[in-house]
Amino acid sequence: MIAALSTEHNPSRPPRAEAASHPPAGCFVTIEGIDGAGKTSHVQAIAERWRARGLEVVRTREPGGTPLAEALRELVLHQPMDALTEALLVFAARRNHLQEVIEPALARGAVVLCDRFTDATFAYQGGGRGFDTAVLAQLETWVQGSRQPDLTLWFDLGPELAAERRAAARAPDRFEREQVAFFHAVRLAYADRLAQAPQRVQRIDAGGTPEQVAARWLAVLESRGW
Ligand SMILES: Nc1ncnc2c1ncn2[C@@H]1O[C@H](COP(=O)(O)OP(=O)(O)O)[C@@H](O)[C@H]1O
Ligand SMILES: [Mg+2]
Repeated sequence: MIAALSTEHNPSRPPRAEAASHPPAGCFVTIEGIDGAGKTSHVQAIAERWRARGLEVVRTREPGGTPLAEALRELVLHQPMDALTEALLVFAARRNHLQEVIEPALARGAVVLCDRFTDATFAYQGGGRGFDTAVLAQLETWVQGSRQPDLTLWFDLGPELAAERRAAARAPDRFEREQVAFFHAVRLAYADRLAQAPQRVQRIDAGGTPEQVAARWLAVLESRGW
């Protein structure tokens, strides 16, 4: 109370500076980057930051986030298929996820924090597989209408380093078994997404220690008052 009062009575410090320490209600934030960049390692800390400020945070992932979409995830990550099939399945999963989880959460004022979203489809099926991005853009419109993330944190790491981190951590899925050249193409496609939407997509240098990376995303959030 005392801090709030002193802010009110000090004309050199605008009250907004203290009020805006979290994203607005109904905010949609996505986390992107190649496999092994560190997305899953950091998403929990981001969620905790906002929960500590009293927000409802819905932490979810793609492909997945509902029973149907998780079943589709299993197929996409482990069954051989062509790029169009991949794209159709990830958009089918996304449709279900939007309807069952994301849109209801945003409508009740929660912050949705999603590990991968449509940028990953452009990066993996578009950049990695070389699939027609005009078709992806059509599917994007069909499935999500005008819904776009309010902020995307792109954890950017060189493919060689990402491969080293993955190798130390887990057995590879269909995508993670791809060669370094595939991940170079995915990374370039992420860079292209940033170039197309520089207000929405924020690049986070994902090299260095987890603490260094955390300091970088924290700086991005603080620069927005989030
Ligand atoms: N900054 C870092 N330095 C070293 N290892 C890291 C770093 N960030 C994450 N890791 C490790 O790399 C592996 C992949 O990280 P993960 O968060 O699963 O990446 P992603 O979700 O992007 O695939 C994990 O074993 C994780 O502990
Ligand atoms: Mg992950």
